[in-house]
Amino acid sequence: MTARLNNPFVVYGYKGPEYFCDRIAESNKICTTLRNERNVTLVSPRRMGKTGLIHHVFHRMEAEDKDCKCFYIDIFATKNMEQFVQTLGSAVLGKLDSLSQSTLRKIQEFFSAWRPAVTFDPLTGLPSVTLDIKPSEGNESLKRVFDYMNLSGKRCYVAIDEFQQIQNYPQEGLEALLRSYIQFLPNVYFIFSGSRQHMMEEMFLAANRPFFQSAMVMSLGSIDKETYRSFANRMLETQHRSIGPEVFQRIYEFAGGITWYVQAILHGIYDHADRRVDVALADEVVRELVEEQSATFQNYCAWLTDNQLALLKAIAREQSVMSPLAQQFIRTHQLPATSSIKTALHALEDKMLVSRSATNGYSVSDKLFALWLVQR
Ligand SMILES: Nc1ncnc2c1ncn2[C@@H]1O[C@H](COP(=O)(O)OP(=O)(O)O)[C@@H](O)[C@H]1O
Ligand SMILES: [Mg+2]
Repeated sequence: MTARLNNPFVVYGYKGPEYFCDRIAESNKICTTLRNERNVTLVSPRRMGKTGLIHHVFHRMEAEDKDCKCFYIDIFATKNMEQFVQTLGSAVLGKLDSLSQSTLRKIQEFFSAWRPAVTFDPLTGLPSVTLDIKPSEGNESLKRVFDYMNLSGKRCYVAIDEFQQIQNYPQEGLEALLRSYIQFLPNVYFIFSGSRQHMMEEMFLAANRPFFQSAMVMSLGSIDKETYRSFANRMLETQHRSIGPEVFQRIYEFAGGITWYVQAILHGIYDHADRRVDVALADEVVRELVEEQSATFQNYCAWLTDNQLALLKAIAREQSVMSPLAQQFIRTHQLPATSSIKTALHALEDKMLVSRSATNGYSVSDKLFALWLVQR
């Protein structure tokens, strides 16, 4: 049993199945796929719930099969292959056994060249192992980490979050190398997850890439509106309040069906425990969320050139734009020449401040930021 939360609408991290909304079909599908010896690729825009879903699935897999072991790593901040191996190594090494003396000896023998160091977390007292890897030794140590998992004989599931990051490493061929190790590990299966949709899709769906057809590709969509409302009302029962379909529609629409925004608004509504849940309260909570992040948004703006900022504001005002290079759009918002806008648009996409969808065109990725921009 986990401790009860004061606010059941979680906006950061995974706090257990009782606070997790739906994703039943997706969880079943991922569990079955992994158990049937296939890898999974999970793709969606940011904040839709990939990382949460991975933790949810792993929580269940470990509960249902005491002999399996799940590892989660996020490689968003890694810059090269050594850091990748370092991250994977410290997640896995020593975890396939309690860190007994004999395990430590085994790891030390196995990785002697990389001077494995055991450190103890000062807060939890739990040991972890780190490797001292030199750039020239990346390939070999990666192989060793996989060998270690293989030798353990345990059933392992490894999630690599923000996996598209490996394409930014200076080393070439990591994709092919990883693929070649992975396909010969009979007891290890993977979830590859990523928010940069076109990069992920290219890696897994293009016939000339090493990971082609190596995984079941799942693109994670929005949680169904009515299912979400029932979940919200179950949580609000303790406050003897509920949300009607109209108010929920308002929240869901503002959120564009993206899980984190829905959660953040519900979290705010829960905070105002003494208020009636109506459209006015929902709008007020959104204003509060924008206000909370005002300093962050100011910082974003400081990074932008004048052209980029002008274009970003114009896109925010229109909510979504099919063709930002069109004369009419440029004239309406008094933007500079097409060529400058083209450059600015690329920069904004690259910074992930603007995203593109096939159906709606370009929009500001962060909905709260969009609102803030319009209000300036
Ligand atoms: N099914 C869910 N039920 C409740 N909250 C969720 C759910 N999925 C995601 N969240 C919330 O939304 C936040 C963002 O989700 P996350 O999994 O980090 O998205 P992604 O990895 O796709 O960017 C999480 O921190 C969590 O608070
Ligand atoms: Mg994530």
